[in-house]
Amino acid sequence: MSELNKIALKIISNGKGILAADESNGTMTKRLTAVGVNSSPENRLKFRETLFSSECMKECIGGVILYDETINQITSFGKTIPDLISSSGAVPGIKVDTGAKDLASSPEEKITEGLDGLRERLKKYYELGARFTKWRGVYKISEKFPSKLAIYSNAHALARYSALVQESKMVPIVEPEVLMDGDHSFELCLKKTSEVIKKCFEELILHNVDLSGIILKPNMILDGNKSKDKISSEEVSQKTIECLKDSVPSDVPGIAFLSGGQSEVEAAENLNSINKNNNTNFIMTYSYGRALQQSALSVWSKNINDTLSTQNTFNHRAKMCTLAAKGKWSNKLENK
Ligand code: 13P
Repeated sequence: MSELNKIALKIISNGKGILAADESNGTMTKRLTAVGVNSSPENRLKFRETLFSSECMKECIGGVILYDETINQITSFGKTIPDLISSSGAVPGIKVDTGAKDLASSPEEKITEGLDGLRERLKKYYELGARFTKWRGVYKISEKFPSKLAIYSNAHALARYSALVQESKMVPIVEPEVLMDGDHSFELCLKKTSEVIKKCFEELILHNVDLSGIILKPNMILDGNKSKDKISSEEVSQKTIECLKDSVPSDVPGIAFLSGGQSEVEAAENLNSINKNNNTNFIMTYSYGRALQQSALSVWSKNINDTLSTQNTFNHRAKMCTLAAKGKWSNKLENK
């Protein structure tokens, strides 16, 4: 077993999943402003250290993805953030892309940037304690999108990123996200997501990336969020598994889904269904941002010193996601 494969398995085995707490300062400011909290570096740290000190970190969370500001911060009790995460047994990770910009010659679409100087930044993050990384490619969906250009150029960037990350002895999370936005059908989502993922693996293989040392972070197969239809959890799981079976090489150890705008309960219910029906060798777990933090943020915003209520809320969410990653979630446990 390679070292990279060991790290990947440590993050996603036994029902553990990933807490995506890597919102950029811009995104975090939107989230905090929406709940009436001032977005200062101190408040961003306070919310995050509250989550990272929670009980569920030991049982449920195998890895935490951080943003550059957070990985450099020191907690109120004097530990570095990577030390706090490692002390619960979870692996610290870092978002290393620098964001999605307009794609030249197809400006309605995006290309993710951040390759310039990446080798040097990776060295610094490794020294700070990171052992895995994230890069998100984002794809607009409609009959004509994503274009071949967007599919190719984001796959190319994801592969160059992955090769550099493995060279730095860290595990790359490869995140091609076909957005939920639109009135498209799940059939279209299935077709486009398969095309996107297949191209990513074509490029990863071309760049000699060790597939046993990556984690794939895709979207689930869903109807668009403006569609009048809504497929059942059972169908989400069948279509999602069909897509991944057909497009992901079997060397990949695991798949950690993004929540992408699903509610907390939907994200748990769909992951649960996927695991109940999982007839592949892939570990299927979560790498959620909003679907792990939304309720906790709302509780915290009412009193930012109420650590206990915030942590109780986060513990419950993480527990539900971990049950879902084992196919043992239920509505009854959700509402207990
Ligand atoms: P969501 O689960 O909120 O989609 O965030 C996951 C993520 O890391 C997106 O890049």
